[in-house]
Amino acid sequence: MRIAMIGSGYVGLVSGACFAQFGHDVVCVDKDEGKIARLRKGEMPIYEPGLDKLVTDNMRAGRLAFGAGLDEAVAGADAVFIAVGTPTRRGDGHADLSYVYAATAEIADAIRGYTVVVTKSTVPVGTGREVARIIREAQPAAEFDVCSNPEFLREGAAIEDFMKPDRVVIGVESERARDVMAGIYRPLNLIQTPMVFTNIETAEVTKYAGNAFLATKITFINEIADLCEKVGADVHDVARGIGLDGRIGRKFLHPGPGFGGSCFPKDTLALAYTAREVDAPQTIVEQVIEINSSRKKKMARKVIDFCGGSVSGLTIGVLGLTFKANTDDMRDAPSLDIVPALQAAGARIVAFDPEGMTEAGRMIPGIAFAKTAYEAATGADVLVVITEWHEFRGLDPRRLKEAMRKPRIVDLRNIFDPEEMRGLGFAYEGVGRPKPRN
Ligand code: UGA
Repeated sequence: MRIAMIGSGYVGLVSGACFAQFGHDVVCVDKDEGKIARLRKGEMPIYEPGLDKLVTDNMRAGRLAFGAGLDEAVAGADAVFIAVGTPTRRGDGHADLSYVYAATAEIADAIRGYTVVVTKSTVPVGTGREVARIIREAQPAAEFDVCSNPEFLREGAAIEDFMKPDRVVIGVESERARDVMAGIYRPLNLIQTPMVFTNIETAEVTKYAGNAFLATKITFINEIADLCEKVGADVHDVARGIGLDGRIGRKFLHPGPGFGGSCFPKDTLALAYTAREVDAPQTIVEQVIEINSSRKKKMARKVIDFCGGSVSGLTIGVLGLTFKANTDDMRDAPSLDIVPALQAAGARIVAFDPEGMTEAGRMIPGIAFAKTAYEAATGADVLVVITEWHEFRGLDPRRLKEAMRKPRIVDLRNIFDPEEMRGLGFAYEGVGRPKPRN
């Protein structure tokens, strides 16, 4: 199959490279010519484990190319995937579809012969229909079908998620388009991946419902963690105790400082907005949005309380700034709320993050950056873990203790063992874990 990928951002690039790995001929395009030039040289615009090798291998094999021109890529394609950004529109929380519709207008002009136009970007229900209308209006004779094929990729594990998905959801309404899409995903038949063929609206809703459900699950366990802290229970045992019930499932029950990233915050907002528009309010999701954003703010208060009510004049070592591990993405990261609140309370912040410091430096003024986790701990009055990078789990607590001015840790990701840390002489506080009984 010949595939054109419109947009070489996170989703476009990962999907394009993985489709090439499936054996298809893929051309990825992007408006940003500088990005295309760098990609041709094998330079990745984002940090994603394994992506650089996948891209360069497939370029070398002649299956993956990068172009600045949409026309040529679309004219020769069996399927055109729209993978441009859909940020939150300023003011109302709705997804900004201007990039999607601008790409659609260009695609409409470039289509030659039967083409399946696929929305891969996360788009609110009704967008697929609108894409079809735009193309039909611009080129009434165009032979095409529209399809919705949402992605379920986690940053940091995107390639694995693409190559071994739990399922593929495809909203199509003609046999011909269904055959093209089935052909594109045929390599996944070998691992018996479930394919959910449905209509376009259902596929669009499925994407939002999936993310909103996961965001709800996290928010639920975060509130249970608050309860556990008050009553001396351990949230991890609760999560295990409920998660072993197959109806609940164990994943996404890890408590923390609140969910962030480019997807959950944006998609829950957009779902709530769309639902209100059609008078089917998603009040659970609205609550989740509310609870999560106030949780991120409350985390700074937790640190301040732990330090006896004030952090004024203290040096706080911060471990991790990105919204989760294995990414350089800072979008809606809890650190964006926590760090400025601690600074406003008079603390000096010395932070280390394996991938996120460049971006964090742009987004949060006034942080001093350390070259290693130990350096961030050096001279600190308290250490705050905000992101669960693997390398933090292996830190030697004794070395941390020696480096710190006071051995105190607020572990917002529960990466350390409370008993062990307290045994070594740390004042330690995690999330949803019992405090020592006096
Ligand atoms: C999420 C979904 O997991 C993907 O399936 C989806 O395709 C993607 O959004 C998207 O819509 O594009 P992602 O945002 O990369 O992926 O990250 P997640 O691993 O889902 O984490 C989201 C946030 O929830 C992070 O801040 C993470 O720290 C937090 N989280 C996750 C928890 O606090 N606890 C958990 O148990 C799991």
